[in-house]
Amino acid sequence: MATASEIAAVGVIGAGQMGSGIAQLAAAAGCAVLLLDADSAALSRAVASISASLRRLAAKGQLSQTACEDSIKRIRCVSTVQDLRDADLVIEAIVENEDVKKQLFVELDEITKASAILASNTSSISITRLASATKRPSQVIGMHFFNPPPIMKLIEIIRGADTSDEVFAAVKSFSERLGKSVICSQDYPGFIVNRILMPMINEAFWALYTGVATKEDIDTGMKLGTNHPMGPLQLADFIGLDVCLSVLRVLHNGLGDNKYSPCPLLVQYVDAGRLGKKRGLGVYSYAQKSSSLKP
Ligand code: 3HC
Repeated sequence: MATASEIAAVGVIGAGQMGSGIAQLAAAAGCAVLLLDADSAALSRAVASISASLRRLAAKGQLSQTACEDSIKRIRCVSTVQDLRDADLVIEAIVENEDVKKQLFVELDEITKASAILASNTSSISITRLASATKRPSQVIGMHFFNPPPIMKLIEIIRGADTSDEVFAAVKSFSERLGKSVICSQDYPGFIVNRILMPMINEAFWALYTGVATKEDIDTGMKLGTNHPMGPLQLADFIGLDVCLSVLRVLHNGLGDNKYSPCPLLVQYVDAGRLGKKRGLGVYSYAQKSSSLKP
Protein backbone atom coordinates (compact mmCIF):
# COMPACT_ATOMS: atom_id res chain seq x y z
CA MET A 1 0.00 0.00 0.00
CA ALA A 2 1.29 3.48 -0.94
CA THR A 3 2.41 5.83 1.84
CA ALA A 4 1.57 9.54 1.49
CA SER A 5 4.91 10.39 -0.13
CA GLU A 6 4.53 7.49 -2.55
CA ILE A 7 1.16 8.75 -3.79
CA ALA A 8 2.31 9.97 -7.19
CA ALA A 9 -0.67 9.26 -9.42
CA VAL A 10 -4.17 10.27 -8.33
CA GLY A 11 -7.38 9.36 -10.11
CA VAL A 12 -10.28 11.76 -9.61
CA ILE A 13 -13.68 10.59 -10.76
CA GLY A 14 -16.33 13.19 -11.58
CA ALA A 15 -15.46 16.50 -13.25
CA GLY A 16 -18.05 18.61 -11.45
CA GLN A 17 -17.30 21.40 -8.97
CA MET A 18 -15.86 19.07 -6.33
CA GLY A 19 -13.92 16.79 -8.69
CA SER A 20 -12.31 19.74 -10.50
CA GLY A 21 -11.31 21.35 -7.21
CA ILE A 22 -9.80 18.08 -5.96
CA ALA A 23 -7.93 17.56 -9.25
CA GLN A 24 -6.54 21.10 -9.01
CA LEU A 25 -5.28 20.50 -5.47
CA ALA A 26 -3.62 17.17 -6.34
CA ALA A 27 -1.96 18.62 -9.45
CA ALA A 28 -0.69 21.65 -7.52
CA ALA A 29 0.77 19.23 -4.93
CA GLY A 30 2.86 17.61 -7.70
CA CYS A 31 0.76 14.51 -8.48
CA ALA A 32 -0.03 13.19 -11.93
CA VAL A 33 -3.82 13.51 -12.08
CA LEU A 34 -6.17 11.37 -14.13
CA LEU A 35 -9.49 13.21 -14.24
CA LEU A 36 -12.25 10.83 -15.28
CA ASP A 37 -15.71 11.70 -16.52
CA ALA A 38 -17.85 10.05 -19.18
CA ASP A 39 -19.06 13.50 -20.24
CA SER A 40 -16.39 15.12 -22.41
CA ALA A 41 -18.04 18.54 -22.16
CA ALA A 42 -17.80 18.33 -18.34
CA LEU A 43 -14.09 17.50 -18.69
CA SER A 44 -13.50 20.52 -20.94
CA ARG A 45 -15.33 22.80 -18.50
CA ALA A 46 -13.30 21.36 -15.61
CA VAL A 47 -9.95 21.92 -17.34
CA ALA A 48 -10.96 25.49 -18.23
CA SER A 49 -12.01 26.27 -14.67
CA ILE A 50 -8.91 24.62 -13.12
CA SER A 51 -6.63 26.53 -15.51
CA ALA A 52 -8.39 29.81 -14.74
CA SER A 53 -8.25 29.15 -11.00
CA LEU A 54 -4.50 28.28 -11.06
CA ARG A 55 -3.70 31.29 -13.28
CA ARG A 56 -5.63 33.53 -10.84
CA LEU A 57 -3.41 32.20 -8.04
CA ALA A 58 -0.31 32.88 -10.18
CA ALA A 59 -1.51 36.41 -10.96
CA LYS A 60 -1.92 37.01 -7.21
CA GLY A 61 1.65 35.75 -6.63
CA GLN A 62 0.53 32.71 -4.62
CA LEU A 63 2.01 30.32 -7.20
CA SER A 64 4.88 30.77 -9.65
CA GLN A 65 4.03 30.94 -13.35
CA THR A 66 6.03 27.73 -13.94
CA ALA A 67 4.32 25.87 -11.09
CA CYS A 68 0.97 26.99 -12.48
CA GLU A 69 1.64 25.77 -16.03
CA ASP A 70 3.28 22.55 -14.75
CA SER A 71 0.22 21.83 -12.59
CA ILE A 72 -2.10 22.27 -15.56
CA LYS A 73 0.07 19.89 -17.63
CA ARG A 74 -0.10 17.26 -14.88
CA ILE A 75 -3.85 16.82 -15.42
CA ARG A 76 -4.87 14.23 -18.03
CA CYS A 77 -8.52 13.77 -18.92
CA VAL A 78 -9.70 10.18 -19.29
CA SER A 79 -13.04 8.57 -19.97
CA THR A 80 -12.96 5.01 -18.62
CA VAL A 81 -12.26 3.40 -15.26
CA GLN A 82 -9.61 1.22 -17.00
CA ASP A 83 -7.50 4.37 -17.42
CA LEU A 84 -7.05 4.47 -13.62
CA ARG A 85 -5.19 1.16 -13.39
CA ASP A 86 -1.91 2.82 -12.35
CA ALA A 87 -3.34 5.24 -9.79
CA ASP A 88 -1.99 5.06 -6.23
CA LEU A 89 -5.06 6.82 -4.87
CA VAL A 90 -8.51 7.21 -6.44
CA ILE A 91 -10.94 9.81 -5.10
CA GLU A 92 -14.48 9.62 -6.39
CA ALA A 93 -16.71 12.69 -6.44
CA ILE A 94 -19.67 11.40 -8.44
CA VAL A 95 -23.41 11.63 -7.78
CA GLU A 96 -24.58 11.03 -4.17
CA ASN A 97 -26.28 7.73 -4.90
CA GLU A 98 -25.24 4.71 -2.88
CA ASP A 99 -25.97 2.10 -5.56
CA VAL A 100 -24.09 4.05 -8.23
CA LYS A 101 -21.12 4.58 -5.92
CA LYS A 102 -21.08 0.89 -4.89
CA GLN A 103 -21.00 -0.19 -8.53
CA LEU A 104 -18.09 2.18 -9.12
CA PHE A 105 -16.20 0.72 -6.14
CA VAL A 106 -16.74 -2.80 -7.51
CA GLU A 107 -15.16 -1.70 -10.82
CA LEU A 108 -12.32 0.19 -9.13
CA ASP A 109 -11.55 -2.83 -6.98
CA GLU A 110 -11.22 -4.97 -10.11
CA ILE A 111 -9.17 -2.52 -12.14
CA THR A 112 -6.81 -0.65 -9.82
CA LYS A 113 -3.57 -2.14 -8.54
CA ALA A 114 -3.75 -4.09 -5.28
CA SER A 115 -1.93 -1.36 -3.35
CA ALA A 116 -4.25 1.47 -4.42
CA ILE A 117 -6.30 3.35 -1.84
CA LEU A 118 -9.93 4.00 -2.80
CA ALA A 119 -11.49 7.16 -1.35
CA SER A 120 -14.94 8.67 -1.54
CA ASN A 121 -15.79 12.36 -1.28
CA THR A 122 -19.30 11.43 -0.18
CA SER A 123 -21.16 13.97 1.98
CA SER A 124 -22.90 11.33 4.04
CA ILE A 125 -23.03 7.83 2.54
CA SER A 126 -21.58 5.09 4.74
CA ILE A 127 -17.91 4.35 3.96
CA THR A 128 -18.31 0.92 5.56
CA ARG A 129 -21.06 0.02 3.08
CA LEU A 130 -19.05 1.33 0.10
CA ALA A 131 -16.02 -0.63 1.36
CA SER A 132 -18.11 -3.80 1.63
CA ALA A 133 -18.56 -3.71 -2.16
CA THR A 134 -14.80 -4.33 -2.50
CA LYS A 135 -12.35 -7.06 -1.51
CA ARG A 136 -10.07 -4.44 0.08
CA PRO A 137 -12.22 -2.78 2.78
CA SER A 138 -9.09 -1.89 4.78
CA GLN A 139 -8.03 0.37 1.86
CA VAL A 140 -11.32 2.26 1.53
CA ILE A 141 -11.75 5.61 3.26
CA GLY A 142 -13.76 8.83 3.17
CA MET A 143 -12.05 12.07 2.09
CA HIS A 144 -14.72 14.72 2.45
CA PHE A 145 -13.70 18.01 0.81
CA PHE A 146 -15.62 21.26 1.19
CA ASN A 147 -16.82 23.54 -1.55
CA PRO A 148 -14.86 25.28 -3.06
CA PRO A 149 -12.06 22.73 -2.42
CA PRO A 150 -9.16 25.02 -3.40
CA ILE A 151 -10.29 27.60 -0.81
CA MET A 152 -11.76 25.62 2.08
CA LYS A 153 -9.10 24.59 4.57
CA LEU A 154 -10.57 21.32 5.78
CA ILE A 155 -10.68 17.66 4.79
CA GLU A 156 -12.87 15.44 6.96
CA ILE A 157 -11.48 11.92 6.90
CA ILE A 158 -13.93 9.13 7.59
CA ARG A 159 -12.73 5.76 8.76
CA GLY A 160 -14.91 2.85 7.72
CA ALA A 161 -15.28 -0.05 10.14
CA ASP A 162 -12.30 -1.81 8.50
CA THR A 163 -10.10 1.10 7.36
CA SER A 164 -6.55 0.27 8.45
CA ASP A 165 -4.34 2.54 10.55
CA GLU A 166 -1.79 2.61 7.68
CA VAL A 167 -4.37 3.82 5.17
CA PHE A 168 -5.67 6.43 7.59
CA ALA A 169 -2.11 7.68 8.23
CA ALA A 170 -1.31 7.81 4.49
CA VAL A 171 -4.49 9.73 3.64
CA LYS A 172 -4.01 12.11 6.56
CA SER A 173 -0.48 13.02 5.45
CA PHE A 174 -1.59 13.23 1.83
CA SER A 175 -4.36 15.67 2.87
CA GLU A 176 -1.76 17.76 4.70
CA ARG A 177 0.38 17.68 1.55
CA LEU A 178 -2.62 19.31 -0.19
CA GLY A 179 -2.35 22.11 2.38
CA LYS A 180 -5.45 21.11 4.38
CA SER A 181 -6.22 20.64 8.04
CA VAL A 182 -7.69 17.28 8.87
CA ILE A 183 -10.40 16.06 11.21
CA CYS A 184 -11.31 12.42 11.69
CA SER A 185 -14.86 11.14 11.94
CA GLN A 186 -16.15 7.69 12.66
CA ASP A 187 -18.56 6.36 10.07
CA TYR A 188 -21.94 7.59 11.33
CA PRO A 189 -24.60 9.45 9.28
CA GLY A 190 -23.51 12.93 8.20
CA PHE A 191 -20.09 12.47 9.84
CA ILE A 192 -19.19 15.63 11.81
CA VAL A 193 -19.74 18.69 9.64
CA ASN A 194 -22.92 17.80 7.77
CA ARG A 195 -24.51 16.38 10.92
CA ILE A 196 -24.31 19.87 12.39
CA LEU A 197 -24.58 22.02 9.24
CA MET A 198 -27.62 20.40 7.60
CA PRO A 199 -29.98 20.76 10.59
CA MET A 200 -29.11 24.48 10.56
CA ILE A 201 -29.90 24.76 6.85
CA ASN A 202 -33.12 22.77 7.38
CA GLU A 203 -34.12 25.08 10.24
CA ALA A 204 -33.56 28.10 7.96
CA PHE A 205 -35.99 26.51 5.47
CA TRP A 206 -38.53 25.95 8.30
CA ALA A 207 -38.16 29.61 9.32
CA LEU A 208 -38.85 30.66 5.72
CA TYR A 209 -41.68 28.11 5.27
CA THR A 210 -43.49 29.16 8.42
CA GLY A 211 -43.17 32.88 7.65
CA VAL A 212 -40.81 33.81 10.47
CA ALA A 213 -38.90 36.15 8.15
CA THR A 214 -37.87 36.81 4.57
CA LYS A 215 -35.02 34.84 3.04
CA GLU A 216 -32.87 37.97 3.02
CA ASP A 217 -33.43 38.60 6.73
CA ILE A 218 -32.78 34.95 7.64
CA ASP A 219 -29.48 35.05 5.73
CA THR A 220 -28.46 38.50 6.95
CA GLY A 221 -29.27 37.43 10.51
CA MET A 222 -26.92 34.47 10.35
CA LYS A 223 -24.23 36.34 8.40
CA LEU A 224 -24.03 39.36 10.64
CA GLY A 225 -25.37 37.82 13.83
CA THR A 226 -23.09 34.79 13.86
CA ASN A 227 -20.31 35.86 11.48
CA HIS A 228 -20.89 33.19 8.83
CA PRO A 229 -19.51 34.05 5.36
CA MET A 230 -22.90 33.20 3.80
CA GLY A 231 -26.40 32.88 5.22
CA PRO A 232 -27.77 29.30 5.41
CA LEU A 233 -30.19 29.70 2.49
CA GLN A 234 -27.51 31.14 0.22
CA LEU A 235 -25.15 28.37 1.36
CA ALA A 236 -27.82 25.76 0.54
CA ASP A 237 -28.06 27.21 -2.99
CA PHE A 238 -24.27 27.10 -3.23
CA ILE A 239 -24.07 23.46 -2.07
CA GLY A 240 -27.09 22.37 -4.16
CA LEU A 241 -30.57 21.90 -2.68
CA ASP A 242 -30.62 18.30 -3.96
CA VAL A 243 -27.39 17.56 -2.05
CA CYS A 244 -28.82 19.15 1.14
CA LEU A 245 -32.01 17.09 0.79
CA SER A 246 -30.10 13.90 0.21
CA VAL A 247 -27.90 14.45 3.29
CA LEU A 248 -30.95 15.26 5.44
CA ARG A 249 -32.60 12.03 4.28
CA VAL A 250 -29.48 10.07 5.23
CA LEU A 251 -29.53 11.73 8.68
CA HIS A 252 -33.27 11.13 9.09
CA ASN A 253 -33.11 7.47 8.02
CA GLY A 254 -29.84 6.70 9.77
CA LEU A 255 -30.47 8.43 13.10
CA GLY A 256 -34.25 7.94 13.18
CA ASP A 257 -35.02 11.30 14.74
CA ASN A 258 -37.73 13.61 13.37
CA LYS A 259 -35.55 16.63 13.97
CA TYR A 260 -33.75 15.69 10.73
CA SER A 261 -36.98 15.41 8.71
CA PRO A 262 -36.52 17.66 5.63
CA CYS A 263 -38.66 20.81 5.54
CA PRO A 264 -41.47 20.48 2.93
CA LEU A 265 -40.31 23.70 1.25
CA LEU A 266 -36.86 22.22 0.58
CA VAL A 267 -38.49 19.06 -0.81
CA GLN A 268 -40.78 21.15 -3.04
CA TYR A 269 -37.92 23.24 -4.43
CA VAL A 270 -36.00 20.08 -5.34
CA ASP A 271 -39.13 18.54 -6.90
CA ALA A 272 -39.50 21.71 -8.97
CA GLY A 273 -35.90 21.48 -10.21
CA ARG A 274 -34.84 24.52 -8.17
CA LEU A 275 -31.51 22.98 -7.25
CA GLY A 276 -29.60 26.16 -6.42
CA LYS A 277 -26.82 28.14 -8.06
CA LYS A 278 -25.81 25.37 -10.49
CA ARG A 279 -29.30 25.56 -12.09
CA GLY A 280 -29.62 29.35 -11.90
CA LEU A 281 -32.53 29.03 -9.45
CA GLY A 282 -32.86 27.83 -5.88
CA VAL A 283 -33.97 29.90 -2.93
CA TYR A 284 -32.59 32.83 -4.95
CA SER A 285 -32.40 33.46 -8.66
CA TYR A 286 -29.00 33.61 -10.32
CA ALA A 287 -30.36 34.12 -13.80
CA GLN A 288 -28.48 37.26 -14.79
CA LYS A 289 -25.38 37.45 -12.65
CA SER A 290 -24.14 34.37 -10.82
CA SER A 291 -23.05 36.21 -7.70
CA SER A 292 -26.12 38.42 -7.29
CA LEU A 293 -28.94 37.57 -4.95
CA LYS A 294 -32.40 38.28 -6.23
CA PRO A 295 -35.69 37.65 -4.50
N1 3HC B 1 -12.29 28.43 -6.65
C1 3HC B 1 -11.15 29.09 -6.35
N2 3HC B 1 -11.14 30.26 -5.69
C2 3HC B 1 -12.32 30.80 -5.32
C3 3HC B 1 -13.54 30.19 -5.61
C4 3HC B 1 -13.49 28.94 -6.30
N3 3HC B 1 -14.59 28.26 -6.61
N4 3HC B 1 -14.54 30.95 -5.12
C5 3HC B 1 -13.95 32.03 -4.55
N5 3HC B 1 -12.62 31.93 -4.65
C6 3HC B 1 -11.61 32.84 -4.12
C7 3HC B 1 -11.65 34.18 -4.80
O1 3HC B 1 -10.79 34.23 -5.92
C8 3HC B 1 -11.18 35.11 -3.69
O2 3HC B 1 -9.76 35.10 -3.59
P1 3HC B 1 -8.95 36.44 -3.12
O3 3HC B 1 -9.55 36.87 -1.81
O4 3HC B 1 -7.53 35.96 -2.97
O5 3HC B 1 -9.16 37.41 -4.21
C9 3HC B 1 -11.70 34.46 -2.42
O6 3HC B 1 -11.95 33.09 -2.74
C10 3HC B 1 -12.95 35.12 -1.94
O7 3HC B 1 -13.89 35.07 -3.00
P2 3HC B 1 -14.96 36.22 -3.29
O8 3HC B 1 -14.41 37.55 -2.89
O9 3HC B 1 -15.44 36.05 -4.70
O10 3HC B 1 -16.23 35.86 -2.44
P3 3HC B 1 -16.36 35.63 -0.91
O11 3HC B 1 -15.46 36.49 -0.11
O12 3HC B 1 -17.82 35.67 -0.65
O13 3HC B 1 -15.86 34.12 -0.72
C11 3HC B 1 -16.50 31.87 -0.49
C12 3HC B 1 -16.47 33.07 -1.41
C13 3HC B 1 -15.08 31.42 -0.20
C14 3HC B 1 -17.22 30.76 -1.23
C15 3HC B 1 -17.20 32.29 0.87
O14 3HC B 1 -18.43 32.90 0.58
C16 3HC B 1 -17.43 31.15 1.79
O15 3HC B 1 -16.54 30.71 2.52
N6 3HC B 1 -18.69 30.62 1.82
C17 3HC B 1 -19.03 29.45 2.62
C18 3HC B 1 -18.54 28.22 1.93
C19 3HC B 1 -18.84 26.99 2.71
O16 3HC B 1 -19.34 26.99 3.82
N7 3HC B 1 -18.52 25.83 2.08
C20 3HC B 1 -18.78 24.55 2.68
C21 3HC B 1 -20.11 24.05 2.22
S1 3HC B 1 -20.50 22.51 2.95
C22 3HC B 1 -19.75 21.40 1.95
O17 3HC B 1 -19.13 21.70 0.95
C23 3HC B 1 -19.92 19.98 2.38
C24 3HC B 1 -20.83 19.24 1.46
O18 3HC B 1 -20.79 17.89 1.84
C25 3HC B 1 -22.26 19.69 1.51
